[in-house]
Amino acid sequence: MTVLEVNKLTKKFGGFTALSDINLEVKPGERLGLIGPNGSGKTTLINCVSGTIRDYQGEVVFNGENLNNLVAHKRARRGISRSFQIPKPFSSMTVKQNLLIPLEYAVTAEQLDGLTIEEHADKIMEDLELKDKSDDLTGGLTQIEMRKLELARAMALKPQLLISDEAMAGLSSSEVDDILKILIALNEATKITIVMIEHIMRAVMSFSERVVCLDAGKVIANSTPNEVIKNPAVEKAYLGE
Ligand SMILES: Nc1ncnc2c1ncn2[C@@H]1O[C@H](COP(=O)(O)OP(=O)(O)OP(=O)(O)O)[C@@H](O)[C@H]1O
Ligand SMILES: [Mg+2]
Repeated sequence: MTVLEVNKLTKKFGGFTALSDINLEVKPGERLGLIGPNGSGKTTLINCVSGTIRDYQGEVVFNGENLNNLVAHKRARRGISRSFQIPKPFSSMTVKQNLLIPLEYAVTAEQLDGLTIEEHADKIMEDLELKDKSDDLTGGLTQIEMRKLELARAMALKPQLLISDEAMAGLSSSEVDDILKILIALNEATKITIVMIEHIMRAVMSFSERVVCLDAGKVIANSTPNEVIKNPAVEKAYLGE
C-alpha cells in the first residue's frame, strides 16, 4: 500500500537536468526523511509532487490517482500539503487571520468535522503551540514562531500528506527539538504521512523511519536512517559539497 508514488520523474530546466528518473514510494502514516546536498533536487521534487511545477516527465500518483493533469490547488484538495522553505505570511495580519484565509477559501464541511472555521483555526494553533500568539501580527514573530505558522498553514486543510521543506533551518538546537516534537505528535495523533526535507542530520535521523538521499537529481540511498548515514555514497555526496 502506498499513499504517494513517484514514477520515473524527470525534470529539466532548459538543458539542465534537475531530476533524473526518480522512483519513490511513500506508505500511509510513514515518516520519511528526504536529504541531499544543496541543489540536489529536493525542493524541485516537492514542487513536482505538489504541482507547483507541472512540466515534468513521469508520473505523480496519490492514493492510486495519477495527478499529472491537476494544478497545485487541486492536488492540495486531494490531501497534499507543503510548507515553503521561505515562509511568506501576510505580515500586516495576525497569526489567526493568516490561518483563516486558506480556511475560508478552501476548507470543506467534511474537513471541519463539525467545528466552525474559527474553532478549527484555534485547534491548529493549539497543535502547533501558537495559541498565545493568535492575535499577534506576523511581522513581529520570532523565527520559530514563523516556522510554526508556516506548518500551521500547511496543516489547515487537514492534509493526508504533509511535506515540510526545511522547517528547522536557522533554529537553535532546543527549537529544533520543539518542532520535532510537534511533527511527531501530529504524525502519531492523526496518522498523517510526513515527508521531511532537512539539512539538520540529527533532526532528520531521529524523525525518520526511512531516509531517501538525492544527489544531483538521482536517488542514491533509500533505507533506514542508520544504513543511510553509513552509506559511502551519501558521505561522498556531502563531502563533495
Ligand atoms: N526555476 C529554476 N530554473 C532553473 N534552475 C532551477 C530552478 N529551480 C531549481 N533549479 C536548479 O535545480 C537544482 C535543484 O534545485 P533544488 O532547489 O531542487 O535543490 P535542493 O535540493 O532543494 O537544494 P537546497 O538544499 O539548497 O534547498 C539546482 O541546481 C537549482 O539551481
Ligand atoms: Mg530546497
